Amino acid sequence: MSDELDLAPTGIDGLDDILGGGLPRGRTYLVTGETGTCKTIFSLTFLIGGAVKHGEPGIYVSVDEDYTQFVKGAYAFGWDIEYLRSEGLLEVLTPETELIEKIREKDPTAVAKSIVMSIAEYVKWLKATRLVIDPIAPLVTLEKDVQVLREYIRTLVLEIEKKIGATTIITTEIPSGSNALSRYGVEEFLASGVFVLGIARTSTGDFRRFLFIRKMRWRPVEPGIYEIGVERGRGVYIKGRLRNVHVPYISTVMF
Ligand SMILES: Nc1ncnc2c1ncn2[C@@H]1O[C@H](COP(=O)(O)OP(=O)(O)O)[C@@H](O)[C@H]1O
Ligand SMILES: [Mg+2]
Repeated sequence: MSDELDLAPTGIDGLDDILGGGLPRGRTYLVTGETGTCKTIFSLTFLIGGAVKHGEPGIYVSVDEDYTQFVKGAYAFGWDIEYLRSEGLLEVLTPETELIEKIREKDPTAVAKSIVMSIAEYVKWLKATRLVIDPIAPLVTLEKDVQVLREYIRTLVLEIEKKIGATTIITTEIPSGSNALSRYGVEEFLASGVFVLGIARTSTGDFRRFLFIRKMRWRPVEPGIYEIGVERGRGVYIKGRLRNVHVPYISTVMF
């Protein structure tokens, strides 16, 4: 057995250097943060960067935004989704709008398994090596759904790793001001790596977007906070190390 891990380049400028080359393939990575912290743009940069720079087709599962809205928004951002689709580099899947009702009413394990089966067909057809599920569970859910959603998320991630084997990013949205790492409290344990995105205040009082790598199994990643930029057509990129910031919730995570 080779002692080198097979790494997937992230497609995000500056990130591979921090990760020592890229992400170990075939595993699941969590992108977490409050609303508007660029989780969607980060995960799309991974897919589109992977497709355009490295010729690796990918699949984007848009859970909360319908196809037309998504394509229009991405186009305004400088990303031509229809073109990438026509080149066989990207596919966009939108689960049915009643997904949450279905998870509630039926066995969440069975629902997750059937979703993975349909994703697997597209993966095979496109020869996709990358997958994004954004977000991992529908956003509009109730307190009473939590237990059933944990079961759903667990099955989804484990089945993807077992049946699909693509390098996968899942996103989760944490409530503003929360010190939790994820919405349902299971996502970070299922993931091989955790990227926290946020907006921090510097000592001079201005705001910066940041990336904090909270967990990266088997990679020599130094803890550090990086400033990120967002640019139309380019997506998210690393600007450099960020110092003198006050980030209240990423170092004290309690469950
Ligand atoms: N063209 C752009 N240039 C710079 N920043 C942008 C541009 N378009 C969107 N953004 C920023 O990206 C943020 C949204 O990112 P998004 O990935 O949708 O967040 P999340 O998925 O975490 O809610 C917006 O709040 C906006 O500030
Ligand atoms: Mg989003």
